[in-house]
Amino acid sequence: MMKKVTTSTLLKMKQQGEKITALTAYDASFAQTFDKAGIDFLLIGDSLGMVLQGNDDTLPVTVDEVAYHTRAVRKGTERAFVVADMPFMSYSTMEKAFDNAATLMAAGASMVKLEGGSWLNETIQGLTERGIPVCGHLGLTPQSVHKFGGFKIQGRSSQQANLMVQHANALQEAGCQLLVLECVPTSLGKMIAESLDIPVIGIGAGGGTDGQILVMHDMIGISANYMPKFSKNYLLDGRDIAAATECYIDEVRQGTFPGPEHSFE
Ligand code: KIV
Repeated sequence: MMKKVTTSTLLKMKQQGEKITALTAYDASFAQTFDKAGIDFLLIGDSLGMVLQGNDDTLPVTVDEVAYHTRAVRKGTERAFVVADMPFMSYSTMEKAFDNAATLMAAGASMVKLEGGSWLNETIQGLTERGIPVCGHLGLTPQSVHKFGGFKIQGRSSQQANLMVQHANALQEAGCQLLVLECVPTSLGKMIAESLDIPVIGIGAGGGTDGQILVMHDMIGISANYMPKFSKNYLLDGRDIAAATECYIDEVRQGTFPGPEHSFE
């Protein structure tokens, strides 16, 4: 029988220096294709608000929508670890966080992801104490796009970088078992991964993190209007989607993706 990926598997991979591979997924068919190709974890990202619904940002996404897609992804997944995003303002109070995380776990998630720093410590501690594993998310946190004034690289000044390292350590201390780091300079991605015991998964954070995640639509080059610099279209060269996924997994494991052309200074 196939051995399921768990939080222990991911931690062990970091400890053994094995790169972790991840993709977003929103339905059973893609989840099954990615799972069979050997992906380690699948994220039902609130990016669904952009790539599925066509919105300009992730803010309109609801808990019920993430739960709907989580149920579908869970049905298509045998081996991979399944993480669901908590949408904008769905964890603004402890009570909301508990109720909404419970909805996502009941829909089939094995972990929930929240965006933000040490101000979430109490929420993270409360969720983990109640048996709900938490993934943090720092750097370009898309739910704060209007505060940032656009989708911009974060942590470029040494002051911002030091603050982000402190937030990352605080999230780990509060109980996070995984951290996503989005759009930060390569040197900062490496520094945060090296300073934490938990796995740090990068997207636009360079090759020094413990693993990589991409939005699936970017990995197969079909995102409407825009292809981020940090992504790569693996469907080129006549591959089908299964072969493209295997190629992505292989390049992350070999350390050839992301290259400098997909990273920020
Ligand atoms: O919503 C999402 O897809 C994400 C990834 C960009 C990591 O948070």
